[in-house]
This record gives sequence, structure tokens and C-alpha cells, in this order.
Amino acid sequence: MKKIGVITSGGDAPGMNAAVRAVTRAALGRGAEVVGFIHGYRGIIGEEILPLDSKAVGGIIQQGGTILRTARSDEFRTLDGRKQAIQVLQDNAVEGLVVIGGDGSLTGARKLVEEFDFPVVGVPGSIDNDISGTDFSIGFDTSVNTALEAIDKVRDTAYSHERVFVVEVMGRANGFIALDVALSSGAEAVLIPEVPFSLLDICDNLRRARTRGKKSSIIVLAEGAARASDVKEFIQKNTGFEARYLVLGHMQRGGSPTAFDRILALRLGAFAANRLISGFSGEMVGVDGTKLVTHPLSYVLSTERTIDPERLLLVDVMSQ
Ligand code: F6P
Repeated sequence: MKKIGVITSGGDAPGMNAAVRAVTRAALGRGAEVVGFIHGYRGIIGEEILPLDSKAVGGIIQQGGTILRTARSDEFRTLDGRKQAIQVLQDNAVEGLVVIGGDGSLTGARKLVEEFDFPVVGVPGSIDNDISGTDFSIGFDTSVNTALEAIDKVRDTAYSHERVFVVEVMGRANGFIALDVALSSGAEAVLIPEVPFSLLDICDNLRRARTRGKKSSIIVLAEGAARASDVKEFIQKNTGFEARYLVLGHMQRGGSPTAFDRILALRLGAFAANRLISGFSGEMVGVDGTKLVTHPLSYVLSTERTIDPERLLLVDVMSQ
């Protein structure tokens, strides 16, 4: 392949820049030219091209967000939009594409492969870590650490005022962030969309903890499980303990990527570029333990990633 393209698409994630840098430099090392498209799929359709040489991706490894920016494209969801995107790719002699993003972005990638036989390799980039076929997606580790730092601070004030704090973290449809944040912050409970929970049981646990001498409690809530304000109200009414809530929101998507995310992005980005240039397509790169792996996009998009019950149980055991 003489020329490849790269996009970041869907919700941004810390480490996407490190991945763009890795894709670019690995491809340049193989003698291929690289262009980025600004605004993901929308930017392909709109021909928003940014030529990427080694210098263009210098000094971005530590930057959160994405220099290629990102967008959700309604046009690309239509066949006409995708036809237009293919036309732009062909007009610009782009022979293959690396797509860095989550489920929605990888669905778009699969369409380009299946409808037009256009070569695409996906890289998992999402703070949610809900993508099958990889142990970790780029940005998850940073977002967990960002939430953790916030909770460590909240704990101080929760203790001083002997309050219960409900802290809402991101995760519309899943609780991967919430679970790891709960484990690492030593939270008293975690509420996630995948597993039914009883707020009355949680209130009982909070009361028992107080009788054991616990001065304050933290409850981590995934945004898709319930409304933080409702949970706070319920707890306050049923236990009589003073409660507060905090929604961390989009701050979890920003910030400088951790070393873990940078190295993950670097390995996955370089691997994706190499696979694409070597003629592979319709797959996503990922990690299995310490090993780099690939899986067909069809597998990735039809397999649900599930919560590890052992981790969930540990939250309870550790809160006793
Ligand atoms: O998929 C990443 C994510 O940050 C989710 O955790 C969250 O629910 C969603 O994106 C928020 O999307 P938006 O940026 O469109 O508000």
C-alpha cells in the first residue's frame, strides 16, 4: 500500500493521539504515505484531509483528546454517505484506513469492508472498555485513574462530614469503568446497569458499616444504572445519613494519558498500520494479556463483553 488514512471517531479517549502517532510512524517506516481525516467519517465525506508526516505527529503522545478531532456522522450512516466517502478515499489514492474508536466507529469500518471491499483495520479506542476482542481499549486506564483521583479527594470531605457520597462515573450501557473505579477507590458499593441491585440492601449495608464505626461511605454509580440524585435522595431518606452526589461526566474523557494507555496505543496503532499494509482487513487489533491479537470485526461486533463476577464480588467482600 502506498497511502493509508487514519481517523479517530466516536467519543474521544486519552491515548488516541498516541495511537495516531503510532499508526503514522509505523506506516512511514513501511514506506507508505499517511493522511488523517479531521472529524472522523464526516471528514472523509467532506474531504477534510490533514497530511501526516513524522513531524506532524510529534509532541502529541502526552496530549489528551485527538488532534484529528472527532464527530458523529449521520451522513455516513446512509449508503449514499458511505459511497461518497469511498469516492473521496479513491480520489485521494488512499488505499486503506485505520479507524480508531469504539463500537459505532467499528460498525462503520465493517460497512466499508463489507459493502465496498475497502481495506480497514480497527483500533479499540473508548474509555468504556466495552469492546470485545481486547482486554483493554485505549483511554480506559486514564479515565479510571481520573475518576479515582476525584474520589480520593471526595473521601476526605466525606469523612470529615460523616457523609455518604454517590459518585457517578461514565458508562451509559455498561459498568466497566464503575467497577474498576469502585475496586481501586475502596468504595462501599458499586451500581452498574448489567446487574440488578436493591437500594434497600445498600441502605442496610450502610447502616451496618456505621455500627462498625465507618464514618463515611462512597457509592460508585455507572451513569446507565440510575440517576445519581435519585440514589442520593433514597439513601438519605432511608438511612437518615447525610448524603451528597457528584457527577464526574466528561472530565473522565480528558487529560494526559497514563503510561499504560500510551504504550497500549503505541502497540495497537503500530500493529494496525502494519497489518493493514501487509494486506489484512476487516479486523480489529487488541491485546490478550500481554500479547497482541486480531479478531474479525464481525466477531468483535457480535460478541458482548461481560462483567467479571469475581471483581464484582470483591467490591462487596472488601467493603465489609
Ligand atoms: O462512549 C464513551 C462515553 O464517554 C460514554 O461513557 C458516555 O455515556 C458517552 O460517551 C457520552 O457521550 P457524549 O460525549 O456524546 O455525551
